[in-house]
Order: sequence, then structure tokens, then C-alpha cells
Amino acid sequence: MELTPEEKGMLRGEAGFAVKKSMEILAALGEIYSAQRLLVVSSVQIAGVSYDNLGDAGLEFLDEMARDGKVRALTTLNPAGMDVENWEALGISPEFAEKQKQVIEAFARMGVVTTCTCTPYFVGNIPRYGQHIAWAESSAVCFANSVIGARTNREGGPSALAAALTGRTPAYGLHLERNRRAVRGVDVDTELRDETEFGALGHVTGRRIGSEIPLFRGVENPDVDSLKGLSASIATYGGTAMFHMEGVTPDPVEAPGGSIRITREEIEEACREMNDDTEIDFVSIGCPHASLEELQRITRCLEGRKVVMETWIHVARPLKKTADMMGYTEIIEASGARIACDTCMVVAPLKGRFRGLATNSAKSVYYGRAKNQFKAAFKTLEGCLKIATGE
Ligand code: F3S
Repeated sequence: MELTPEEKGMLRGEAGFAVKKSMEILAALGEIYSAQRLLVVSSVQIAGVSYDNLGDAGLEFLDEMARDGKVRALTTLNPAGMDVENWEALGISPEFAEKQKQVIEAFARMGVVTTCTCTPYFVGNIPRYGQHIAWAESSAVCFANSVIGARTNREGGPSALAAALTGRTPAYGLHLERNRRAVRGVDVDTELRDETEFGALGHVTGRRIGSEIPLFRGVENPDVDSLKGLSASIATYGGTAMFHMEGVTPDPVEAPGGSIRITREEIEEACREMNDDTEIDFVSIGCPHASLEELQRITRCLEGRKVVMETWIHVARPLKKTADMMGYTEIIEASGARIACDTCMVVAPLKGRFRGLATNSAKSVYYGRAKNQFKAAFKTLEGCLKIATGE
């Protein structure tokens, strides 16, 4: 990989220990993927923030990097293992909370904006079309590449941190125009009626074409929340980091590898597959983290009602502050539901606490089953909240 004189200096340690270590990580990655050079990144999003995933070894690594590391690009965090202000109410142990706080403090010392969310594009970490960025959370990566048209690979925790501390990422994968073209046309032969059907579209597409980049045709006027849910679902079930959608996403649209057709029966079958026959004792909404519009829908559903089971709404803390200002938080919390900022049901340590999960997120269904052994009910936001209120 060709490095500039400044980058060579970084690699020799002239900008300190953390930058040297970061350049070593990026140089190794560049070598593996045959990158010709490094690109300057304008934005970073770091995943692997939950102490549940990091453990003590991860915390030690962060402490070491925080000795002299300072970010060189706007950087935010993916959800952590708890609501950093309200962890006790969510049943998190003091031991876990102490470790999680140490993780977040290490990031703060490096100049990371410690907003912990998988929807950084809702809270100020938003690139423009064509910008090179280094994001890590799979749904956010897919949304950034597809809907915004920014350029990012799906970074791991260490490579995203390395990008933040150097302001660089190796030029390979989805940073190169030739790798961003659609491979397969996907003709959607049915109207998608709600967010569960967008989740189901990601499920079916992922199962049928894996990580090939699809070009969706026939999807009429989807809203941002539907695209957010589709980004999460297709990344989960297919592993792809971007899609194109005719008339919706900004990059050129062509699909040289032939087409597949997705029918109403397949969408309904995928919805059925994501619904287990089970008792529900936990409702979780906000995967990816809820938008302002979703918070409004939740408020309308819960006004004057009481939930009869544990109900968590996941949202980025800056959006919760808007919800506070608008009186939504008061209405939601008066129902007994909890707004859980900074975290989500997948990265929080929840194994064994619940048995049946109701969610409007296809991604939550997958990880709820795989990570926490929950059974699932996959319903619209309104459907989930009807279950929550026992209607
Ligand atoms: Fe976000 Fe957690 Fe879902 S990180 S995309 S809310 S699994």
C-alpha cells in the first residue's frame, strides 16, 4: 500500500502510540485486501461498545489506546450494554454498569462523541453522498451506503477505532466504485404494506441471493423508517452491506446478473417464519433505534394506557431529549414502558430474563432467537404495543 509521508510518519510512531498501533491495523488490513492507498474519512461509527462483548481484554485495549489517542474524524458509538443514566431501572447489575462506564470513559478520553446509537444519521453523524466513512454497525453501514450514498465497508471494532484515530481507512471493497454496482435485479411483485413486510423483504432477499448487491424494482415510495428496517434485515439475513432501489437510492441502477422475482406468498411466508407460537413477556421496539416519527407513533399508542409486561423503546439519547421536550417521554413512561437509550435488547445482557419477545424488527427476531434464545412474535409497532397493553 502506498502511504503518504505523513502516513509513513504515523506508522513509525511519530504521532504517538495509539496512532502507530492504528496504522499497523490499517496497514495489515490494506495488505489483506490489496488496497493501493488510504482514504481520508469524514465520519466514523464504532461498534463493539457493550462490555458484554468486549470483556476485560477489550477494556484494557481501549484504555491503552486512550493513553494518547485522539480522534481525527467525527466519531460516535454503537449501542452499549446499558442505558448509561438509567441502568438500574433496566435491571443491570452494578458490576456490569461499572465496567460499561469505564468503556465509555475510555472512548470519551479519545474525543469520541459518546452517543451510543445504531442510527447516527438521526443525531448529527451524517455524511453526504459520495463521502468516505468508516462505520461498523451493519444496519447503519447498509443505510449509509444505500440510502445516503456514502462509501463504507463494514468495519470491525478495532478497524473503526483505528480509522477514527488516524482519520484514514484502506481503499478497498465498497470504497471502490466497481464494487458498488448491483449484481442481481429483485423485482418485488407485491405492495409492501408495513414495516414487517419491509423486514420480510430483507429476509427473503438475503436468503435467496446472500451477500450479492440487489437492485430492488417495484417498491413504491418507501419512508425512511422502512428503509432503516430493510437495511437492518437484509444485512442480517444476507450479509450484504448495500442495496440499490430504483427511483429511491442515489447511485446508478443496473443489474447485469439477471433478476429474481419476490412474490406476496414469499413475503407472507417470511412473516410467518418470524412468528413463533409463544407467550410474550417482553416487548422491544427501536431496532434500529427509533426515529422521531416512530416515537410519535408509540406515544399515540400508549397515551392513556398501561403496559402489562416489560416494554423497552430503544432510541438515541439526543432524540429522547426531543421526546422529553415534546412531552412524549412523560406519556410513554406513564404507561409503564421504559425508554432505554444508549442500548438495545441485543447488546444488553438479557439472556435468561425473558422467554417471548414481541418486536417489529426482523433483525431483533434473528438475534433474539440466536443470542438470547427468545421465541418471537413479529408484528407492526402498533401490534407490538397492543400485546404490551394486553389488548
Ligand atoms: Fe441497533 Fe441493536 Fe438493532 S444495535 S440495529 S438496535 S440489534
